[in-house]
Amino acid sequence: MSVAKRDLEDNRKVTTHRLIEMKQRGEKISMLTAYDYSMAQLIDQAGMDVILVGDSASNVMAGNVTTLPITLDQMIYHGKSVMKAVKRALVVVDLPFGTYQGNSKEALSSAIRVMKETHADCIKLEGGSEIRESIERILCAGIPVMGHLGLTPQSINKFGTYTVRAREEAEAKKLVEDAHLLEEIGCFAIVLEKIPASLAARVASELTIPIIGIGAGGGVDGQVLVMHDMLGINKGFSPRFLRRYANLAEDITHAVQAYIEDVKTQDFPNEKEQY
Ligand code: KIV
Repeated sequence: MSVAKRDLEDNRKVTTHRLIEMKQRGEKISMLTAYDYSMAQLIDQAGMDVILVGDSASNVMAGNVTTLPITLDQMIYHGKSVMKAVKRALVVVDLPFGTYQGNSKEALSSAIRVMKETHADCIKLEGGSEIRESIERILCAGIPVMGHLGLTPQSINKFGTYTVRAREEAEAKKLVEDAHLLEEIGCFAIVLEKIPASLAARVASELTIPIIGIGAGGGVDGQVLVMHDMLGINKGFSPRFLRRYANLAEDITHAVQAYIEDVKTQDFPNEKEQY
């Protein structure tokens, strides 16, 4: 039986505990972003394990150059839309830049707003030891937290580039320490973005919580991609780690052009398409 078929037949809600069980039995975790009702419904019904309402919405939905401008209200809007559609997948909502780094009280109130207003299952935030207090306070309130290390796009102004992170020993050492810290304080999973595959595999083997990679090789416990990238909607983005599963930019352009042509030539609507 194909993986997709098996997933479709298993209608139980995906929980943080089930993700840990998946890691224990060696079943890889599938994760993809979604930001709206219609796409979230298709992705959930296709059998995705985890749907991430990523702050990449800032780029692919709002047209910003970075993830920094998106607001908590905007993330809540996307989270609510996705939650109306999803029945099975675990839904994670990103806390946006500036809503958790200031102090742990602010972090907790941002996380509570996301949970209360979207009804999502958990939140994700970027960083390690620097935001330990914020993560601990959110966890104390009973909100599951997914960590995010490596290339953390909310820090792009500090990095200055979207290139591979943790190639140098000192940065790799800090990443491993941060990953252990996140596990110790109670995060249920960690996203590792754009780091060497060998480092990501080492973290996945040392930790008991699932490690989900993006540009982090195949030695981790699951993979995440941005939906617009893997469906080929976002043509201008072609990093080495990206596999395109469709070419929707071309399909949509052809469909729209055909419609324009049919309207101009009065081929649409025809006799059968009117009352
Ligand atoms: O916002 C996002 O889409 C993400 C993924 C790249 C992991 O954080």
